[in-house]
Amino acid sequence: MGSKVDVVLGLQWGDEGKGKIVDVLAGRYKTVARFQGGPNAGHSLHFDGQSFVVRSIPSGIFREGTVNLIGSGVVLDPISFAAECDNVRNLGIEPESKIVISRKIHLILPTHRLLDAARETAAGKAKIGSTLKGIGPAYSDKTGRKGLRVGDIESQGFAEKFKALKAAHIAEVKRMNLEGFDEVIAKAEAEEKTFFECIEKLRKFSFVDCEFFVNDTLQKHDILAEGAQGSMLDVDHGSYPFVTSSNTTCGGVCTGLGVAPGRIGKVYGIFKAYCTRVGSGPFPTELFDATGERIRQIGHEFGAVTGRPRRCGWLDLVALRYAVIVNGVTDLIMMKSDCLDSFPTIKACVAYNIGGKETDRFPFDISPEAITPVYHEFPGWQKDLSGIRSEDELPKAFKDYIAFIEDYLGVRVSILSVGPDRDANIERHTP
Ligand code: IMO
Ligand code: MG
Repeated sequence: MGSKVDVVLGLQWGDEGKGKIVDVLAGRYKTVARFQGGPNAGHSLHFDGQSFVVRSIPSGIFREGTVNLIGSGVVLDPISFAAECDNVRNLGIEPESKIVISRKIHLILPTHRLLDAARETAAGKAKIGSTLKGIGPAYSDKTGRKGLRVGDIESQGFAEKFKALKAAHIAEVKRMNLEGFDEVIAKAEAEEKTFFECIEKLRKFSFVDCEFFVNDTLQKHDILAEGAQGSMLDVDHGSYPFVTSSNTTCGGVCTGLGVAPGRIGKVYGIFKAYCTRVGSGPFPTELFDATGERIRQIGHEFGAVTGRPRRCGWLDLVALRYAVIVNGVTDLIMMKSDCLDSFPTIKACVAYNIGGKETDRFPFDISPEAITPVYHEFPGWQKDLSGIRSEDELPKAFKDYIAFIEDYLGVRVSILSVGPDRDANIERHTP
C-alpha cells in the first residue's frame, strides 16, 4: 500500500522544462502518466546530442522499460498523435509497446480545431492566444456532455456519433459568418478521412480502464505524473480567462488519473529563474525592454509548438508562492539559472503594489493597470554555471539567490538545472 503518485508540474505559465525533468526522473519510475492537457503541450528533451519534442506522448517514452499512460483527463487528437508516434518510431521505439491509453480520454476532432480558430478569430483583440489545437472546444464538449471518447471507437455507432458532432461544429462555425472561413471549413470537413485512418492506427494501442490501471500499478510501484501547461494557466486557479481549459494543478492528477488524494506523494514544482508567457493575458513582471529581449535570446524563448516568441520577464515570487500553495509543492526544481549567468543584476518580484498598498498575496485582478511589481535586486554571479555539477562549485552570489527563494517560498530547491541536456543538473537533495 506504500506506493505513491509523484507529480511533476509547472508553476508558471508553461514551458518551465517539465519534459526534461520527467525524462531525468523517469529513469527512477517504471510508469509515467500524463493527466491533463493535450497537444497544446510541447515538452522538449535533449540527450545524446539530439532534441525531441513530445506533445501528447508522456516524456518517459525515451527511457527503457517504462510504461507511458495517457490518462483520462487528457484530450487526444488521433491525427497529431499518429504523427508523434511516427517520430518516435523513427528513433527505433515502438510506441504501441510502450504507451497505454485510457478509454475515458476525450477525442479532439478536426472540427474542434476549426472551432478553436473560429472562436479566436471572432474574439479579435480579446483572443486567448490559443495554440489552436482544439483544446478549448474539446473540453467544452466534455463538460457540455457531448464529447466522444476513446472507448466509443470500440462500440457500434461511432461513425454516426462522429458525423453528428462534426455537423454541429460546422453549423456553429457557419452561423458565426466569419470572413474567409469557407476554405477553413472545407479543409476541416476533408480531414474526416485522415481522422478515421488515424482512428485505425489508434486501435493498435492498449486501451485501459485508467482508474484500475493506476491503482493496480500502485500495488507494485510508484508512478510519475507529468503535468502540462503551468499552474497560472489552470482553468480554476490561473489568470482566467487567459488560461487553458483543464486543471493543470495537483488536483488534476486525482481527477485526471482516478487516484485518491492520499496517494499523492512528492510534488515537484518546476519553475524557471525568470518568467515567460506565450499567448495573451496579464503578466505582472513582463519586460518590454532590452533585458526582456536578452532573456528571450539567451533562453531561446520561442514556442516549441507554435514557434511564437515568448514574452519574458523577471521571476515573480508572489505568483510562485501562490502556485506552491495551490499544488502543495514538496520539492522545487529550478530551471535555466544558467541563462542569467551574464546579468550584472538580477531581480525578483517580492510584492505587488496595488493602488498604493503592497501585498504578497496573489490577487483576483492581475491586469497590468492594477499592479506595479515591487522588486528585490540581487548582484549577478557572472559565472558560467553550465559546466557545474556539484553544489560546492556554485558561486556564493548564486547560493544566496537560491537561499532567498527558498526562504520566500518555504520549500527547498531539490534540483537545479543548468542546461538542456539530461545530465546538466545539480541534485541538492536526492529526491
Ligand atoms: P507546455 O506543456 C505554454 C497557452 C497558450 C494560450 C493558452 C490557451 O509546453 O508547458 P490552449 O491551446 O490551451 O487553448 O491555449 O495557454 N498554452 C501554453 N503556454 N506552454 C504550454 O504547454 C501551453 N499550452 C497552452 O499559449 O495562451
Ligand atoms: Mg512547452
